[in-house]
Amino acid sequence: MGKIKRIGVLTSGGDAPGMNAAIRAVVRTAVYNGLKVTGIRQGFYGMIYKDFVEMEASSVSDIIQRGGTILKTARCEEFMTEEGRLTAYRNLREAGIDGVVVIGGDGSFIGARLFCEEHDIPYVGIPGTIDNDICGTDYTIGHDTALNTVVQAVDKIRDTADAHNRIFFVEVMGAEAGYIALYGGLASGAEAILIPETTDEERDLIKIIRPDSGRKKTSIIAIVAEGDESGGAIALSEKVKSEFKDVDIRVSILGHLQRGGSPSATDRVNASKMGYAAVKALLDNQKSVMIGLVNNEITLISFSRSLKLNKHINHKLIELAKILSA
Ligand code: F6P
Repeated sequence: MGKIKRIGVLTSGGDAPGMNAAIRAVVRTAVYNGLKVTGIRQGFYGMIYKDFVEMEASSVSDIIQRGGTILKTARCEEFMTEEGRLTAYRNLREAGIDGVVVIGGDGSFIGARLFCEEHDIPYVGIPGTIDNDICGTDYTIGHDTALNTVVQAVDKIRDTADAHNRIFFVEVMGAEAGYIALYGGLASGAEAILIPETTDEERDLIKIIRPDSGRKKTSIIAIVAEGDESGGAIALSEKVKSEFKDVDIRVSILGHLQRGGSPSATDRVNASKMGYAAVKALLDNQKSVMIGLVNNEITLISFSRSLKLNKHINHKLIELAKILSA
């Protein structure tokens, strides 16, 4: 493959705070290395429908502090078809793009891996999702900011829960993963954390609610991951209410609050490291790989290996949360 002259960059899947910092690092590193840059808007949808924009160093001024993504994002079923990817390939060739940086989650990397198997334009991925559910990296862009959003929200809820001696079920995002719930719960001192990766926490929750539990605390904050087997905060609250008639219960679903906001310093720094590394990887003729951060070191892992592995949550932290919140 000849020397890369022009790269495309896109954001794909659910947006995450810090994506703009990653776009900025990709564009600035590319320009620094004499490359041209095409921004691909609306994720893979824009690649299929040629929603392209020329980018230069000034295109990414004043965005490092902004949540969301200046390139917009979308989920794109068409890119999961061979015809869709062939159209995208033709569009990339026509635009003179000979390498792509895709910032997104594992759904985006599934499409990118298939593309790389079918066509000779290399892709390098940057893990961007608040869920932190991607294998091959300790860290995904947006996760730290989302955790801080959860902590600020739960700190506020704790004031009113305490005032009314209430039980609050606070539902957080994370799709099928419990990282936001586990780390958000630990950081906010939640009395219970319910995640898809474990099954015994509902029984533990009942123990601390029982009037004879001997607990001195008069209010409880239970963080529930949206993918938890209980069915989420509403379902769980109804179940508890049916068992404990006189308990005062409320529910807060944090929803898309967790996807917005100005990215934290951690997200900005890591996004900058990853954006730089992605362009360097393309210049080193890498393809079909994802940039990771493992023990705070930049790593490369193939899309296929990242997608095959299962990310294991740290169960010891669940134990720690129980001990510290007792
Ligand atoms: O993957 C990120 C995420 O925020 C998940 O945590 C959540 O379940 C999903 O996206 C929500 O998707 P949408 O923004 O399409 O409603």
